[in-house]
Amino acid sequence: MTVRLAGRVALITGGSRGIGAAVARRLAADGADVAFTYRSAADSAKAVVTDIEAYGRVGLAISADSADPVAVVGAVERTVAELGRLDILVNNAGVFAGGPIESVSLDALDRAVAVNVRGVYLTTQAAVRHLGDGGRIVNIGSSFASRVAAPGVSAYAMTKSAVNGLTRALARELGPRGITVNLILPGSTDTDMNPADSAGADAQRSHIALGRYATPADVAATVSYLVGADGRHVTGASIAVDGGSTA
Ligand SMILES: NC(=O)c1ccc[n+]([C@@H]2O[C@H](COP(=O)([O-])OP(=O)(O)OC[C@H]3O[C@@H](n4cnc5c(N)ncnc54)[C@H](OP(=O)(O)O)[C@@H]3O)[C@@H](O)[C@H]2O)c1
Repeated sequence: MTVRLAGRVALITGGSRGIGAAVARRLAADGADVAFTYRSAADSAKAVVTDIEAYGRVGLAISADSADPVAVVGAVERTVAELGRLDILVNNAGVFAGGPIESVSLDALDRAVAVNVRGVYLTTQAAVRHLGDGGRIVNIGSSFASRVAAPGVSAYAMTKSAVNGLTRALARELGPRGITVNLILPGSTDTDMNPADSAGADAQRSHIALGRYATPADVAATVSYLVGADGRHVTGASIAVDGGSTA
């Protein structure tokens, strides 16, 4: 059997839970060695490393707050130092900042910008120094925030839209080096951030053509496609994995 990502090394930000953990497991199943960052959930991070190792791959959990500029660069450098190289970066870590615009505090706004925008930029900047021909960058945006916004998501939508601009500009800049840069726009996905049994879940479900939340593995499957050989000619794209919420 051919192992699709054999010999490749991936770094995923926010890989201890939710979508990032599913991406970590999926890329390990595909044959990559996988490093990932987390902020505070050390036990969950350990469990993901165990899952990666069960696929016969090397797993590395790195405590690094995406809001900390030194920590994110350190995470990239530690990945390269311990796993030997870097081929795939998945910018997944994100925080939700919600509420009517008058209610969004300066702290909440600063935190969302620091994690969802500045952290993505600085992690990418550090990673690009190590990516070679065939390198892959996948950013995780948001279908609702970017395509069909709703009241109460102004700060979150602003930060996720910034990643759209970054994705397209970098696709142009890094294309000549053989590096692809794409944006996945998940819709409602069953995680701690947006549980499928929350008070607002039925309202979200009513917008989904397929009538159900995505699983984190649904999003991870699209990451797997983009970072593999079959994704080599896809760059600068925004791909919604939202069950038709924005159809
Ligand atoms: N769930 C949805 O419906 C949905 C929809 C659209 C887009 N998204 C986007 O998808 C991404 C993942 O969301 P999710 O639903 O999987 O979230 P989640 O269940 O809240 O998990 C977030 C993950 O990111 C980590 N993380 C959070 N803040 C961090 C920080 N400052 N530095 C480093 N790691 C951090 C967490 O680490 P700890 O475990 O240590 O806290 C955890 O591993 C986010 O960018 C989110 O905006 C989600």
